[in-house]
Amino acid sequence: ASVSGLVVAMDGPSGSGKSSASRGVARALGLRYLDTGAMYRAVTWWMLDRGVDPSDQDAVTARCREPRLEISTDPDAPGISVDGTDVSGPIRTQEVTRAVSAVSAVPDVRRRLVDLQRQIIGPGDIVVEGRDIGTVVAPDAPLKIYLTASADARALRRTAELTGTSTREQRAEMARRDALDSTRKTDPLAMAADAVELDTTPLDLDEVIAEVLRLVKERTI
Ligand code: DC
Repeated sequence: ASVSGLVVAMDGPSGSGKSSASRGVARALGLRYLDTGAMYRAVTWWMLDRGVDPSDQDAVTARCREPRLEISTDPDAPGISVDGTDVSGPIRTQEVTRAVSAVSAVPDVRRRLVDLQRQIIGPGDIVVEGRDIGTVVAPDAPLKIYLTASADARALRRTAELTGTSTREQRAEMARRDALDSTRKTDPLAMAADAVELDTTPLDLDEVIAEVLRLVKERTI
């Protein structure tokens, strides 16, 4: 009962182990789970599907309120659909991965998705993963974790997650995406001043989850 209303903010670059750790923590505590990266990916998928050039900021701005997103917050059955189409698979392709940083740098896209994310978070009982959760989406979250890992560890993990890619390709692609995500003007990837930094390089998934659960206990007792 001590975790009632809890919001756990999990930020960090791609491949830091955020998704698996966030889901595992949500499952262990009976909390909901929100993958905000999936929301940026879904909007990007929709832009590509409609033939909107992801690098055309004005075109993306003009149309970013059109796609209707529905996202599951069940850590055992994550999934996202756009206008009724399940895009859980298609949002993980290289095409979407390449275009997502440009789309997520558009201020109106962020405004819309941050609003939606805050609605979903509502009264809490949720683990939320992304890039700006502790800094922008849920700055009052009682526990903020910033996951990091070495570039090699991250590239290896990402290669295992995505389809049709090699580790070398992923490493280059991740460096490009991290640079864009960290330097964009609106809500860049950043560690909140009151976040706990956790380097997952030497840890396996169970160890990361155990460490986050220990931090939750520490904060909620
Ligand atoms: O976590 P991910 O790799 O699925 O996220 C995909 C992209 O979405 C990432 O490159 C940056 C963007 N993103 C964001 O800008 N803000 C978030 N809260 C989550 C993701």
